[in-house]
Amino acid sequence: MPDLAPARILGIESSCDETAAAILENGRLLLASTVASQIDLHARYGGVFPEVASRQHIRTVYAIVEQALQQAHLTLADVDAIAVTRGPGLAGSLVVGMNMAKGLALASGKPLVGVNHLEGHIYSAWVHPANTTPLPPAPQFPLLALLVSGGHSELNLMTDHLHYQRLGATLDDAAGEAFDKVARLLGLPYPGGPSIQKAAAEGNPQAFHFPRARLDGTWNFSFSGLKTAVLRLVRSFEEQQQPLPVADLAASFQEAVVDVLLTKTLAAARQFGAQQILVAGGVSANRALRQAFLNQQEFPVHIPSLSLCTDNAAMIAAAGYFRYALGHCDSLDMDVLPTWPLS
Ligand SMILES: Nc1ncnc2c1ncn2[C@@H]1O[C@H](COP(=O)(O)OP(=O)(O)OP(=O)(O)O)[C@@H](O)[C@H]1O
Ligand SMILES: [Mg+2]
Repeated sequence: MPDLAPARILGIESSCDETAAAILENGRLLLASTVASQIDLHARYGGVFPEVASRQHIRTVYAIVEQALQQAHLTLADVDAIAVTRGPGLAGSLVVGMNMAKGLALASGKPLVGVNHLEGHIYSAWVHPANTTPLPPAPQFPLLALLVSGGHSELNLMTDHLHYQRLGATLDDAAGEAFDKVARLLGLPYPGGPSIQKAAAEGNPQAFHFPRARLDGTWNFSFSGLKTAVLRLVRSFEEQQQPLPVADLAASFQEAVVDVLLTKTLAAARQFGAQQILVAGGVSANRALRQAFLNQQEFPVHIPSLSLCTDNAAMIAAAGYFRYALGHCDSLDMDVLPTWPLS
């Protein structure tokens, strides 16, 4: 691929419960990133409450964009394009970021680029703070991308920028969803991923052997059997009025998830002739998962920095840069797409 033209992108993200803005140069160098999380607002519901989320985005989005520009010591005149999450996500949340982006595009005359949130998670692996020297090499194609987030778990083969062949996906719960549900079973706070990781640090991953749904012959995942196995064990401890070994259960559950994700991703990379592996999405923040992928020697691995694993706007600006540089801009009548598969 020829070198792409340099560009500075303002990214805006509001697909779920984070309002975020970022300024990124050339798809890689992060000049500023601001994220307003609503986790505390939703924690009492044990999950995201859609109407509360969209109203909070309305209150926050303007200040978040202003803050990102201020952090980068730039004004809107200094950016080349505005990238915004178009979907998938909560409709009422998506429209807030979309309308903000449209307003800015209209006022400034800058091009508007709609980005798939899942594409954003994948492109988070391209991003590094602006002062990173030397800049690590960019991911190379063909690339096997494992996307594991709160709403998605899928394996995509990328043969080039913006080209995705979905090999498989979860048949039931997403990996992040499984972490969240199992955390609830264990009485751990929302969001479940970080709580399980913390509890697991004190536990023995070999204490319980939980089932691994390998679904041989397909590249799909399934986590509901694993969740049910944890539920059964929790009930049996309760029936016998024994204290719940939370740390051991968390560690054994986490080990089972990591094992399945690692073995299936490596097998797919071999089968489809990938040169490298990329892991992204909220669950890629998991320490055990990162360690397992970094410990294997077979494929070079790209994993976003910790702050870019969960929702942020740097990833939207990164995917937006490649869309913009490759000539994919959108018009001001673009609608949001609450359901929008990557491939
Ligand atoms: N350290 C961790 N270990 C495991 N899971 C984690 C960790 N940190 C976050 N997660 C999980 O990541 C998920 C949130 O990720 P993300 O923000 O990418 O999801 P989302 O945006 O809600 O979903 P999607 O991107 O599919 O629309 C939650 O399910 C959370 O429990
Ligand atoms: Mg996400």
